[in-house]
Amino acid sequence: MADKLYIFDTTLRDGEQVPGCQLNTVEKIEVARQLELLGVDVIEAGFPVSSPGDFNSVREISKAVTQPTVCALTRAVEKDIEVAADALKYAKRGRIHTGIGTSDEHIRYKFNSTREEVLQRAVAAVKYAKRFVEDVEFYAEDAGRSDNEYLARVVEAVIKAGATVVNIPDTTGYCLPAEYAAKIAYLMEHVDGVHRAVLSTHCHNDLGMATANSLAGIVAGARQVECTINGIGERAGNTALEEVVMALRCHKELGIDTDIDTKRLTSTSRLVSSLMNMPVQANKAVVGRNAFAHSSGIHQDGVLKNRESYEIMNPEDVGLSDNAIVLTARSGRAALKHRLEQLGYLLEGDSLAKAYEKFLVLADNNKNIQDEDLLALVGAKEKKD
Ligand code: KIV
Ligand code: ZN
Repeated sequence: MADKLYIFDTTLRDGEQVPGCQLNTVEKIEVARQLELLGVDVIEAGFPVSSPGDFNSVREISKAVTQPTVCALTRAVEKDIEVAADALKYAKRGRIHTGIGTSDEHIRYKFNSTREEVLQRAVAAVKYAKRFVEDVEFYAEDAGRSDNEYLARVVEAVIKAGATVVNIPDTTGYCLPAEYAAKIAYLMEHVDGVHRAVLSTHCHNDLGMATANSLAGIVAGARQVECTINGIGERAGNTALEEVVMALRCHKELGIDTDIDTKRLTSTSRLVSSLMNMPVQANKAVVGRNAFAHSSGIHQDGVLKNRESYEIMNPEDVGLSDNAIVLTARSGRAALKHRLEQLGYLLEGDSLAKAYEKFLVLADNNKNIQDEDLLALVGAKEKKD
């Protein structure tokens, strides 16, 4: 039996912070319902003290979903915590996510404070949040650049104060996978009582390593991952939910899995992309337009003989009906023959060779070869007339 990894989706909080991605409450509820169908464990619905709109969204999402825990973000500030608790009033399962920066950069420049003072504020915030809800998550902002020894003291203290989950964010996307893994491993080893809480990864993608860092942290012992659909989020984004989920499905030897219904990944990606007006890059892992498209002759030939030669995931498993064999000037005869067969034309030997020659001339001059072009190429128009 695989170890369960909790999926904490922050599309509606960290993802929604992206300029131009703001959603209204009705749209947020639509995304939250889709996330519930997808099977996420926690929905971070917003930062209630930040605006009346965000407060209202957290409140309405709390009413709209029943399975996932609904989480609200706060700073380590009593007023924030009170407002978050109020916004979560109707949640079947509510979580307050409170925290403070623990790197020297944050302590010095953001708070003009000291490590000791920050530690006390962290503990006080968790204790205060515990007055309202049982489930309190603490985030050590900029943990990626925080000193491990100090971080371990903070984590130990907040667990003692009642934190059920402790989030170790690589807020600036600075860490390398081995470094982030070592940080989680250090905490697993040096924090007294660490097993009373769940450690969580929260990685940003500034160096393109959010998914790699999250996976490294998970292998080192974290059992919650914070992520967003399509990897949207501040600056270069957050860890992409679909990438972590499919990496674990592909690497069963890790013995860690999620409750995500992967067949809903593509539809969820499309919903978020269209509501947030954020196109998904064509080559985006798992959900990009080209993620299951084969265009070079060698690959197409291999896939047509056996999909496993170039596919590590089944397109059906992420909710697509099939892979795509895209015809370009790099395609081979096998792909052309295959597509023509699908269109009802069986070409072999010389007739295939001639059609392929004509196809290459056409493909060299056209980026997108359509079925009509292929039909014209084999004289289909004449046949039909
Ligand atoms: O990146 C970060 O540190 C965050 C926290 C507020 C959890 O988003
Ligand atoms: Zn973040």
